[in-house]
Amino acid sequence: MKILALVGSPRLGGNTDFLVAQALGEAARLGARTEKIMLSQYRVAPCLGHDDCGSFESCVQKDDTSWILDKFCEADGVILATPVYYYNVTAQLKAFMDRNYYLYTHSQKSQAKAVGIIVVAQSEGIEDTVHTLKRYINEVFRIPKDGILELHGFAFKLGEAKNNPKLVKQAQEFGRKMVESLESI
Ligand SMILES: Cc1cc2nc3c(=O)[nH]c(=O)nc-3n(C[C@H](O)[C@H](O)[C@H](O)COP(=O)(O)O)c2cc1C
Repeated sequence: MKILALVGSPRLGGNTDFLVAQALGEAARLGARTEKIMLSQYRVAPCLGHDDCGSFESCVQKDDTSWILDKFCEADGVILATPVYYYNVTAQLKAFMDRNYYLYTHSQKSQAKAVGIIVVAQSEGIEDTVHTLKRYINEVFRIPKDGILELHGFAFKLGEAKNNPKLVKQAQEFGRKMVESLESI
């Protein structure tokens, strides 16, 4: 069982990164193989919008997106994690989401059977961000809408999530539920 987490926060060791690590740590403890990709550490350029992906055998932009997309398609479970930036996902995650257009034009979807979202905000914008992610998940995965696992919480400064025992526990439960959901299939 392989669980891949894509993290949209550019802040290494930040709140989102920390909560994802908690979830993956628990999943690994329960036997899953896990991997976390901090998108900001790789070259994931925004979509060029030529709208002609279908004419090419791979995306014309040669950056890190292609291998990340391969992992994304092959993973059994995928976690999409982001802080809220102006009521939405970060630019790093949005760039990756838009680059999925290549898969769409080739009628490909991720084979993941469990999908989870982790969203962190200082105070507002979680609902809008969750909405965006759910609409996207509906397009790129073959899982029912009510099958999406969710974790959201409030944190602002670096380390705030770490000092919130309730949120930490919720993140670990999220990792456990992800494994249980995959085991039940
Ligand atoms: C550019 C930017 C925009 C933000 N916009 C929002 C927002 O709309 N709503 C909110 O509650 N917090 C907002 N925040 C705060 C972050 O969501 C919050 O600090 C979060 O904990 C950062 O997560 P991280 O540590 O994983 O990077 C924003 C932060 C930045 C840097």
